[in-house]
Amino acid sequence: MTTLYPPISFKLPVFMHGADYNPDQWLHDPAVLEEDIRLMKLAGCNVVSIGIFAWSALEPEEGVFTFEWMDRLLDRLADNGIFAWLATPSGARPAWMSEKYPEVLRVESNRRRNLHGMRHNHCFTSPVYREKTAILNAKLAERYSRHPAVVGWHISNEFGGECHCDYCQEAFRAWLKQKYGSLDNLNAAWWAAFWSHTYTSWTQVESPAPHGESMVHGQNLDWRRFVTDQTIDFYKHEIAPLKAVNPELPCTTNFMDWFEGLDYRRFAEAVDVISWDAYPTWHKPASEGDIAAWFAFNHDLFRSLKKKPFMLMESTPSLTNWQPISKLKKPGMHRLSSLQAVAHGSDTVQYFQWRKSRGSSEKFHGAVVDHAGHEHTRVFSDVARLGATLKGLTELIGTVPVVETAILCDWDNRWAVKDAQGPRNSGLHYEETVLQQYRALWEMGVPTDIVGSQDDFSAYKLLILPMAYLLREETGAAIDRFVQGGGTLVTTYWSGIVGDSDLCHLGGFPGPLRNTLGIWAEEIEGLYDDESNRLIMFGNGKDSSWFPGSYEIRELCERIHSEGAEVIAVYGDDFYRGEPALTEHRHGNGKAYYLAARVSDPSFYRAFYGKLIRDAGICRTLETELPEGVTAQLRSDGESDYVFVLNFSGQEEGITLDAEPYVDLESGEAITGALALPRYGVRILKRKTRA
Ligand code: GLA
Ligand code: ZN
Repeated sequence: MTTLYPPISFKLPVFMHGADYNPDQWLHDPAVLEEDIRLMKLAGCNVVSIGIFAWSALEPEEGVFTFEWMDRLLDRLADNGIFAWLATPSGARPAWMSEKYPEVLRVESNRRRNLHGMRHNHCFTSPVYREKTAILNAKLAERYSRHPAVVGWHISNEFGGECHCDYCQEAFRAWLKQKYGSLDNLNAAWWAAFWSHTYTSWTQVESPAPHGESMVHGQNLDWRRFVTDQTIDFYKHEIAPLKAVNPELPCTTNFMDWFEGLDYRRFAEAVDVISWDAYPTWHKPASEGDIAAWFAFNHDLFRSLKKKPFMLMESTPSLTNWQPISKLKKPGMHRLSSLQAVAHGSDTVQYFQWRKSRGSSEKFHGAVVDHAGHEHTRVFSDVARLGATLKGLTELIGTVPVVETAILCDWDNRWAVKDAQGPRNSGLHYEETVLQQYRALWEMGVPTDIVGSQDDFSAYKLLILPMAYLLREETGAAIDRFVQGGGTLVTTYWSGIVGDSDLCHLGGFPGPLRNTLGIWAEEIEGLYDDESNRLIMFGNGKDSSWFPGSYEIRELCERIHSEGAEVIAVYGDDFYRGEPALTEHRHGNGKAYYLAARVSDPSFYRAFYGKLIRDAGICRTLETELPEGVTAQLRSDGESDYVFVLNFSGQEEGITLDAEPYVDLESGEAITGALALPRYGVRILKRKTRA
């Protein structure tokens, strides 16, 4: 059973293909717009994102609005069958505003106010900034929200950062009062008796600062939560006047790859459709697989936020100009990278940007139309070819994968575990730990969701908790129910250590999961970079279904004791040699595994998760051997499955399809048996959904 989701916009119920478009940079040359429209049609582009940084062009002086250029732009787009995500321009502001109202500018954690300049540097609390945004947004909504070209709102741009001004301090205190009710509760949650930090008045409470307080973990955590809430509050303030005029138009804001600064899972509740900006560093030597897996993870994360199709709002058609080295996409990579997003659930492929700027900091960033100004470029042809491919994929709109495996990743856990001053301050590598687990699943072509602790786990067969350091009692209880109900759980080292306000669980780690996992984690040590240990599988000895082997361990070793769990592997070295390193606990109808050390050898994860998915009866997208660098991803409408076979290996590959009959969606040809994959090739195959 799969749900088929409605298209992102009924006005454009096909794949959206297009780019950020900034004609406000070309108002001096009206011929540019007409030429751009000709080129957009040629490139198979049906959508643009407009006005993202256009505040100066829309309100050149306070209270003086110049919408004529936008009127003309939208009309010309509509005349030509091109649609628009219309932006609210709050991502950057006009100089007149910063000059007249310095409070709109952000104050850094050192309490110094920024000068005018750059972008994304406004205060989310400033009453003036909120007022100015509301006025302009209301005018945009009145004028354009029923325009035939407009498919939705692009709110601001890549929200991020924080402000420490007096308004924000007041708002932080109000947030804390709301959360804790009393100073006593706050002092208890922050363990304020330590270093005599007890607060006796709310006015003493401030945001973290490099020259003030920065080591109270509970405070740091609450500040980050507040920043998320305040940013979402600003977003809600932006959409209120838009929704008041036309509640039907979807609103989105472009997210960034697993951005640490904001809890996107909370933000997701406030947006109608998830969109994000993906800029992989393709062709970095020896890391294509890592990059492909990282971006696959991100696409899965963004799909999982709403468990429905998302938008690839930005990507580069060729290169970026802000990474350390700007590599061109090799032939095939544009198609592969774009279809990777589609394979994981994107219903759009959009770029930054349509036409290269002539000056300033992004003038050498890849764009569909180069400074040469015509269509006779490699990049333009790649984009046009992809446009033609996307036209043939309309039946995939609204489809999502069937997912039986999930990885738990909470933002507040990520913040807390990295702030903890624990076993390895020189590199705890939380994200890498998540990726180690994810990558094994990606390599086997196992569809995976990235979930939070509030999600419902009951639909999954396998749930993975990489370094779930911050784990609430109620999350522990939900996970216990999941296992008792027949689920398979994998938990790694350094899990179940603290609760909601970063206070340690007393009575033995992994706190709320100790009973579920049937172990007690007594102590953990960090290893120096050049140290290692070994994980020795019992293999054929005790339980013949386990694979044998010795696998390298690096960075983290936890000493655990079984309290009912069976020992599957032990440490090979050091004074804890022979002690458990991997355990299995049969609990209710399910099984709970604990991996006590960071195994560095990827072959361990392949073997381990390979066994677990077989035991749990989890479907792979293709039941066949996939060469290294090749993965298979799935979308489905419940009747037809769409299988994407993606080759990131950098060379030609081939696979043997499983027994079912397939049709190549692009050529319409029936395929059985061998499937050839060119270098950076993608094949999209259709089959009947398995019963
Ligand atoms: C971000 C921004 C864009 C542009 C691109 C360049 O994603 O949203 O405005 O700066 O980066 O890669
Ligand atoms: Zn502020």
